[in-house]
Amino acid sequence: MREIKRIGVLTSGGDAPGMNAAVRAVVRTALACGIECVGIRRGWQGLINSDFVMLESSSVGHILSRGGTILYTARSEDFMTEKGRERALSTCKMLGLDGIVAIGGDGTFRGALELSRLGIPVVGVPATIDNDIGCTNYTIGFDTACNTAIDCIDKLRDTMQSHERCSVVEVMGRNAGFLALYVGIAVGATAVLVPERELDFQRDVVERIQDSRLAGNTHFMIVVAEGAGSAVEIGEKIRESVGMEPRVTVLGHIQRGGSPNARDRETATRMGYHAVHAFLKSGGDCIVATQEGGIVEIPIEEALAMKKHLQMDRYEIMETMQLGALRAKGN
Ligand code: F6P
Repeated sequence: MREIKRIGVLTSGGDAPGMNAAVRAVVRTALACGIECVGIRRGWQGLINSDFVMLESSSVGHILSRGGTILYTARSEDFMTEKGRERALSTCKMLGLDGIVAIGGDGTFRGALELSRLGIPVVGVPATIDNDIGCTNYTIGFDTACNTAIDCIDKLRDTMQSHERCSVVEVMGRNAGFLALYVGIAVGATAVLVPERELDFQRDVVERIQDSRLAGNTHFMIVVAEGAGSAVEIGEKIRESVGMEPRVTVLGHIQRGGSPNARDRETATRMGYHAVHAFLKSGGDCIVATQEGGIVEIPIEEALAMKKHLQMDRYEIMETMQLGALRAKGN
């Protein structure tokens, strides 16, 4: 196994609250182990462009609580090409990097696999608000994003209640419904639309609103995962079929910002620590993942092939909350 003297760290893809905490943990763990740390700016593109900064202990002071990423982030088209990867490899050699910690999501790890095939060991740290990485129960940023969306929806609910309106809120999540479902449960949504469940508009929206009305409610909250459809279109269909004038809110990138909460700071710190130790223990080329509360290392290729399914029992629980209200009214 090669000696590890200097590693790089980068953040790539959509940012997530807690990325800075992970960067800090990588730097501080590396320094504690006598390893130098180089920050690669703007993800894989930064490796191609030799865009880097030496990271000392003080470089990561006071970033634990900060959202975003001090290393900036990007989605690199160039890294998808052989030429781009060759240039990235030259930067690794020029900087004398014995490995790279790549913090990000699925696209980041595909890049990691390519670079590791060129002989640079990479350890991936899962960070995305979508929580859609198959190999890990949890991705850094998810909990904070859920709380941000909940906070926004609680505020929306106040005004929806006053005006006795229907609100349609679109949350992020790319092709996954984790964010929508967790948030939907936490705000007591009237209905939650997720890409993992085929939409039956009558059953999933119209009847849910009617049932909620029968249970005595006068305002309604529909949470739509971006992967399940457009909130604007759902709002339009509600207007046509239920005769209401819904208000539509697309939460958008606000969900990616803000100070990471306890879970994200703590998980990011543990993952960053384990990422550095993965080089020392097994040479790298893995993703550090949370499984049953602990952190495990999974080879990158294997990790990329793993699938994670939305827990549909949670969907049932969400529906039961409304059914209970309806039955209590004697319906
Ligand atoms: O993957 C994180 C994410 O925020 C997704 O939820 C969303 O679909 C996408 O990134 C948005 O990407 P961009 O920042 O390029 O608009």
